Amino acid sequence: AKNVGILAMEIYFPPTCVQQEALEVHDGASKGKYTIGLGQDCMAFCTEVEDVISMSLTAVTSLLEKYKIDPEQIGRLEVGSETVIDKSKSIKTFLMQIFEKYGNTDIEGVDSTNACYGGTAALLNCVNWVESNSWDGRYGLVVCTDSAVYAEGPARPTGGAAAIAMLIGPDAPIAFESKFRGSHMSHVYDFYKPNLASEYPVVDGKLSQTCYLMALDTCYKYLCHKYEKSEGKQFSLSDVDYIVFHSPYNKLVQKSFARLVFNDFTRNASSVDDITKEKLGPFSTLTGDESYQSRDLEKVSQQVSKALYEAKVQPTTLIPKQVGNMYTASLYAAFASLLHNKNSELAGKRVILFSYGSGLTSTMFSLRLHEGQHPFSLSNIATVMNVAGKLKSRHEFPPEKFVETMKLMEHRYGAKDFVTSKDCSLLSPGTYYLTEVDSMYRRFYAKK
Ligand code: ACO
Repeated sequence: AKNVGILAMEIYFPPTCVQQEALEVHDGASKGKYTIGLGQDCMAFCTEVEDVISMSLTAVTSLLEKYKIDPEQIGRLEVGSETVIDKSKSIKTFLMQIFEKYGNTDIEGVDSTNACYGGTAALLNCVNWVESNSWDGRYGLVVCTDSAVYAEGPARPTGGAAAIAMLIGPDAPIAFESKFRGSHMSHVYDFYKPNLASEYPVVDGKLSQTCYLMALDTCYKYLCHKYEKSEGKQFSLSDVDYIVFHSPYNKLVQKSFARLVFNDFTRNASSVDDITKEKLGPFSTLTGDESYQSRDLEKVSQQVSKALYEAKVQPTTLIPKQVGNMYTASLYAAFASLLHNKNSELAGKRVILFSYGSGLTSTMFSLRLHEGQHPFSLSNIATVMNVAGKLKSRHEFPPEKFVETMKLMEHRYGAKDFVTSKDCSLLSPGTYYLTEVDSMYRRFYAKK
C-alpha cells in the first residue's frame, strides 16, 4: 500500500467548559497567569454524564456516519488513552458494540497506554498494519481519548478532555513519510499515576517541562539524521511548513518551537538567518544541561523565532488553547486546528508532529499532505470536524460549578451502584452519555 496515512478525522470535546480568566480570579492566581503565563484561553471538562468511553462512542459513530463508512470495512481498531476506567477491559471492547451490530467482530487491536503518547502508539500500529503483509485491505481506525483532570493546585488549569477518531488507509490526503521518524524513550518520574484510587496524577511540573524539551531535542536530532542519511542533504525547519506539538499548555509549545530554532542554530543549519545567529551566538557555549536552565536563552530564542512561530505553529494552536490538554488527543487536536485554519492551502505541504508522553516516550514524525478525493479530502475533513461550530456552541460554567463537578467526579471515580442524572440537555444530538454503573461495576450508555 502506498501513501498510507489518515483518510478521515472526527473530533469530539465536551460542550462544558470554564474560562481561564475566570479560573484565575477564582483560584486567586495573579491576573494573566493562566491566559498569558500558560497561554490558555478555556478548558473543557466532562460532567458526570460523560467519560472517555462515551466520548469515543460519539467520535467513532459520527466518523462512520459522516464519511459513510460501512462498519464491516474496519479491520483494525486501536485506542490510545491514559484515563483508566478498568484495569483489564479495554475501551476498544466498549467500542465493539458499534461493530457487532453489523456482524463485524473480526477487528484486531486493543488499547495502548503511556501518558499522552498512547494515541501515537495506536496510530503507528495502524499505519504499520496497513503497510504490512498482514493487511487485509480494510481500514484501520484510531481513537485517542482522555479526560485530563488535576488535583487543586498549579496543574489544575492544564486539564482538558476530548476524543478524536482517525480512519487509516492507503492513498491518504494525510500521508506518512514513514522513513522520517525519530523516537526517544527513557525512564523518568515526571508525571505518573501510581494511586489507583485517584484519577489525578502525581506530577513534578518543572521536571516534566525539562523532560519534554530534552525529548524534543533528541527526537529532532534523530529525525534530522535519518532524513540526511536517506536524502543526502541537510534537514532544517526550512524543509517543514508546519510543526505540531503535543500541547499540555500553549506556553510550552512556544518554548518548544524556539528550542527547535536553537537546535538548527547549534547544528549550523542553513535555515538560520543572520540576526538569529548573532542573537543566539552568546549561548553556543552552554552545555546541554545549562541550556535547559537558561532563562535568557529561553527569552532570546522565543524573540528571534516569533515570526516563524506565527507562520509555522500558530495555526495549530486553536483547539489546545480552547479545550486544554486532552492528553493522547492533544497532538491530534492541534493537527485538527491546522486543518481547520488552513485546509485550502495545505496540498503539497510537509507537517512535522511531536508526540510526548511522560514517563517517558516520545516520537517525532513527518506527514505529507495532498488535497485527496471526496470524502477523503482535506476540505471535507475540515467541514466534517466543524471546529468553529463546536467551539461556538459550548456552555461556560462558572469556576464554582467546575470545582463542584470535579468533587462529584472524585466520588464517582471507581464507584459502583449509581445512576447519573441522565441530564443530556447540554449535549448535542448524537452524543453518547453515561446513564448507570450497576452493582457489578458494569457501565451503561445511551445516545441523545
Ligand atoms: N502574568 C503572566 N505570566 C505569568 C503570571 C502573570 N500574572 N504569573 C506567572 N506567569 C508565568 C510564569 O512566568 C511562567 O512562565 P514562564 O515559564 O515563561 O516563566 C508561567 O506563567 C507558569 O508559572 P509557574 O509559576 O512557572 O508555574 P506553576 O507553578 O504555576 O505551574 C505547570 C505550571 C508546571 C505547567 C503546572 O501547571 C503543571 O504542573 N502542569 C502539569 C504538567 C504538565 O503539563 N507538564 C508538561 C509536559 S507533561 C504533560 O503533558 C502532562
